[in-house]
Amino acid sequence: MKECVLVDGMRSANGRAHKDKGWFRNRTPDELLTACYDALFARNPQVKPEMVEAVYIGTANQVGVTMDLGRLGWLAGGYPESVAANTICQQCPSGMSAVEHAARAIMCGEGDIYIAGGVEDMLKVPMGMGAAYPKRVAEERYNLQDLMMGMTAEKVAAMWNISREDMETMAYWSNKKAAAARDAGKFKNEIVPIEGHDEAGNPFMVEHDQWIRDDISFEGMAGMKTPFKPDGVITAAMSSPLTTGACAMILMSREKADELGCSYTIKYKAGAMAGNDPTIMGVGPIAAIKKLVARAGITIDDIDVLELNEAFASQSLACVRDLGIETNAPFKKTNIWGGALALGHPLGQSGARLIITLNNIMKTDMKDAKYGVAALCGGFGNGNASLWERV
Ligand SMILES: CC(C)(COP(=O)(O)OP(=O)(O)OC[C@H]1O[C@@H](n2cnc3c(N)ncnc32)[C@H](O)[C@@H]1OP(=O)(O)O)[C@@H](O)C(=O)NCCC(=O)NCCS
Repeated sequence: MKECVLVDGMRSANGRAHKDKGWFRNRTPDELLTACYDALFARNPQVKPEMVEAVYIGTANQVGVTMDLGRLGWLAGGYPESVAANTICQQCPSGMSAVEHAARAIMCGEGDIYIAGGVEDMLKVPMGMGAAYPKRVAEERYNLQDLMMGMTAEKVAAMWNISREDMETMAYWSNKKAAAARDAGKFKNEIVPIEGHDEAGNPFMVEHDQWIRDDISFEGMAGMKTPFKPDGVITAAMSSPLTTGACAMILMSREKADELGCSYTIKYKAGAMAGNDPTIMGVGPIAAIKKLVARAGITIDDIDVLELNEAFASQSLACVRDLGIETNAPFKKTNIWGGALALGHPLGQSGARLIITLNNIMKTDMKDAKYGVAALCGGFGNGNASLWERV
């Protein structure tokens, strides 16, 4: 089999999905996506768009302005019609799935150069828009209410005995780490500046993630309501916020990257998906990561860097504790530049964004790391994990 290396990845900043305050409220998701393509091709001039074998893009909700953005986003950017595209939906892991489809195609020898990534605009396409759940799932096998994301986060907190205090500590550190990474310029290599609008309507170049709360405090979080369940523990602070964002990366066979003179740090080693009870959807990464390390012939302890999506603090804590990786925030090797509680979680984008950030962490702060894992849970009980090895 061929080896698949990650040549480069770029993303938009993550904006609030808010009709008056969101920095990208006046932009369309295809514009954010093609801004990533434009930046990638500009930074890697030896890679021409017509050399791309195919495009794989993850989007969780493919309706309205996010319909088939794999193909339509490519065409909207003026890119060659001859390059085919596949828009992938696997709820939150959509972006990771897209990357893995491309990586596996490279390893199988189907092609040498692929674009993969993800996009979601949770303002213009809110979660669940247009959904019609099968009665046999939503009424007969389960109860629809129990499948809603916030309710699954509540159930995970109860089953894994995770306290509100520990989740607030995690939210605190996620924001602090993200702010520190932003201030130290760590995201500069991955965020492509795109024009947006501030709250007053003035245009400006958006270079930073909008959700990071510099003013986060334990006092502020203590009084917050629990929107999903009146007597629950999950607040907005410990939930990933509604977000708009896009990302894309160039994946290549190692020999093509060498032939073109492209540099790279990591290669795709293995992937794993695991299904679980959808009423505790957030714990999917536990089984997925166990499968992943077994498949790759390594152990959990061999994971040097973990980029784990923070859909909710409860599910992230359940995952890292159950796997024996971490106990409480601030973590040692998990989300060292902050996670989705602070950076935001544009559903179909995040799985690919985690891999872009993982690559940048392994290029800079964790230069001795051999193995990096990106993992996330997905609505209706999926868990995905992806292993990358330093080349
Ligand atoms: C939790 C959720 C319902 C909150 O939605 P919302 O009410 O629109 O959220 P906001 O971000 O505006 O937060 C609500 C309030 O809490 C405040 N808040 C949020 N985080 C805070 C923090 N860390 N400290 C203090 N206040 C905070 C906000 O400022 C806001 O206050 P305001 O109404 O006075 O402005 C929404 O973010 C959500 O559904 N998240 C989960 C998304 C999801 O399921 N994704 C898929 C995962 S698998």
